[in-house]
This record gives sequence, structure tokens and C-alpha cells, in this order.
Amino acid sequence: MVKSMSLLLSLLFIVFCHSSANTAVYDVVKLGAKPDGRTDSTRSFLSAWGGACASITPAMIYVPKGRFLLKSATFAGNCKNSDITIRIDGTLVAPSDYRVIGNAGNWLLFEGVTGVSIYGGILDGQGSGLWACKAAGNSCPSGATSLGFTRSKNIVINGLTSLNSQMFHVVINGCQNVNIRGVKITASGNSPNTDGIHVQLSTGVTIMNSGIKTGDDCISVGPGTKNLWIEQIACGPGHGISIGSLGKETQEPGVQNVTVKTVVFTGTQNGLRIKAWGRPSTGFVTGVLFQHAVMNNVQNPIVIDQNYCPRNEGCPGQVSGVQISQVTYQDIHGTSATEVAVKFDCSPKHPCRGIRLEDVKLTYQNKPAESSCANAGGTAYGFVEPTSCL
Ligand SMILES: *[C@@H]1O[C@H](CO)[C@@H](O)[C@H](O)[C@H]1NC(C)=O
Repeated sequence: MVKSMSLLLSLLFIVFCHSSANTAVYDVVKLGAKPDGRTDSTRSFLSAWGGACASITPAMIYVPKGRFLLKSATFAGNCKNSDITIRIDGTLVAPSDYRVIGNAGNWLLFEGVTGVSIYGGILDGQGSGLWACKAAGNSCPSGATSLGFTRSKNIVINGLTSLNSQMFHVVINGCQNVNIRGVKITASGNSPNTDGIHVQLSTGVTIMNSGIKTGDDCISVGPGTKNLWIEQIACGPGHGISIGSLGKETQEPGVQNVTVKTVVFTGTQNGLRIKAWGRPSTGFVTGVLFQHAVMNNVQNPIVIDQNYCPRNEGCPGQVSGVQISQVTYQDIHGTSATEVAVKFDCSPKHPCRGIRLEDVKLTYQNKPAESSCANAGGTAYGFVEPTSCL
């Protein structure tokens, strides 16, 4: 009875969501995947992809309820159609031994695909073993990104949950027109390099209505990002939303036209951050709007740091080449966990230009916080506390 009910529901889903009669459906269980969490189902998923990709009509890959063990898999493009829906009702589980995928770079990678939409699903990266290895200071694999899209366009990720990735949870690299909505990302607050969503070399990425709790940046924005829209995000624990690190390479494309609005940061290391290496680079940041942010006990609510130099290697005595301009902070309020809530530490060679602070109120222990500026130019409008040092 239960079985026939769920079959009926699946059929209804297919009928309502893909009324075009010629949608080809590839159910991974029918292709041999086992929902037992133990049997390696990688081949069945790849064969579902192979079918969907070769289909000349729109295709759907269906993953029923249950836990499916998957090793590293690349879902490669040059498909015959540009309308592939992946509907996931179950959980995809990475091997519990982190070494199996730890050096693969990615766990699940889509490469060179067009028109792929993922609805629902839970990805369980089982990263805690690798985090423990790293914490013990042993030599460990660097770890895999749970879900990567590279050189792809017209991508939708809707309603996905990603748990405990080894490294980054989601990476969008070299893509165009990517719509990420309603995702939930969770890893322990002290897990290393478990960034929530990383975007780089990509144009037209939208990230909305998502909750991200992690041990590194909730969202990080790398070189070559254009027309990025981030809205309605809950971030924390984590390191905040970061444009950067930028300027690590001497030749590097810039970041332009980024909107970050309606974000709540809770107990994070940073709020709204721009971060660049203290070394020469062609990189730049221009046209950023940070709007409507709430800070709850955030260590560095507003920060530009152009002196990033981890382990003091390759930058001492040099200054950042990254030119930062036209950055607006509008309606940012809440509490700072440290005295200095606004810090602009810009490059002496390429001072920050066109910083605009408008309606900012950040307190530290119920008193106005402080601000600190180096090589930063701009203007304050409306009520601004801490008093602007621009
Ligand atoms: C900036 O990016 C947004 C999407 O985030 C886009 O709608 C807008 O047209 C872009 N503006 C320019 C000037 O390219």
C-alpha cells in the first residue's frame, strides 16, 4: 500500500512537473543504485547521467528516498539536450573513510553542462574524519568540495541541504547564470575550510533564501566574479560573507557589481568583508552594495583588509595591488564582539575610493563601537555610528 502510494506520488510529480509527455526519466534505483547507505551506487548515478545527457528530449534523473553511497563522480557535459532536472528525495553519502575522495578535488562535479536543475536532496560529505586529521596536525589529504559546477551555464540549485563537507560545500567556477535558492549548509563552527558557497570566474550568480552554518566563510567570492546577487541569508557560525581573498596572483580578473542584501550574521568572525593579499596584482573590486545587514555579536562587522598574508609568506614588505572602489554600506546595524566594528585597512599604493557609509549603527557592549581607517576615502551619510573615519 505504502509502496503504491509513493509510486503514485512519483508519477503525479512527473506528470505535474514535467507535463511534456516526452520527458525521459532515469530512476537511479531502476539502474541498480541501492538505498542502503553501504553499496557503492556511483555507477548507477553515472549511467542515469549518461542516459539523461544523451537524451534528445528533456530528461529527469530521479533519486528516491534512502541513503546512496557515492564515490567521486564527474557529470560531464556536451549533452544532447539542455534541460536536465535532477530530483533528489534521498541522501547522497560520501564514503566514511575520507581518504577515498580526499584527494579527488571534488566529490560530485558537473563540468561543462548547460540547463541542469537540482531540486531537493541532502549531500552528506562525512567530513569530520578529515577535520580531525587536520586538527591533529597530521599530513592529510586536502579534501574534496562536495558539489562543484565548472564551465557551466543556466544552472538551478533549489532546496538542497549540504552537510559536513570535507572542504568547500558548493563551488561555482567559470559559470554563467546560476540560481541558488533555499539551500541549507551545515558544518561544525570549527571545521577547517568548509566554506559554504564559493563563487569565482562567474557571471550572473544569484544566491537567495539560504541558511549557512560553517567553519569558514558562509559565502566567499573569488576573482572574476561579475553581477553577483546575494539576498536573504542567515550566516553563522562561520567567517561571514567575504569578497576575497583577492590579489594572490599577479595577473587576476577583478570583481564587479556585487549586491549583498538582507543578511543576518550571528556569532561570526566577520560580517561584510573584503580581503586582499598584501602583494602586487591586477585584481580589483568595484561596485559593491552591502544593504540591510544585522550583526549579532560579530567580531569584525565591517572590514576591508588589504594586508592578508597568511604565514607571512610571499608578501612581507609589499603592498596590495587590488584597487577597491565604489563600495556602499547601507542600513547595517547590530552588535560587535570587539571594540573596532568598522575597519578599513586599505593599500597605501591603491587607496580605497568611493566608500559610502549610510545609516550604520554598531555597538560594542552597549556603547558606540569604534572605527579605524588607513588609506580609505569616501563619505558618510545619515546616521553613522561608530563615527566615520573616512
Ligand atoms: C548588476 O548585476 C545584477 C544582477 O546581480 C544585474 O541585474 C544588473 O543588470 C547588473 N548591472 C550592470 C550595470 O551590469
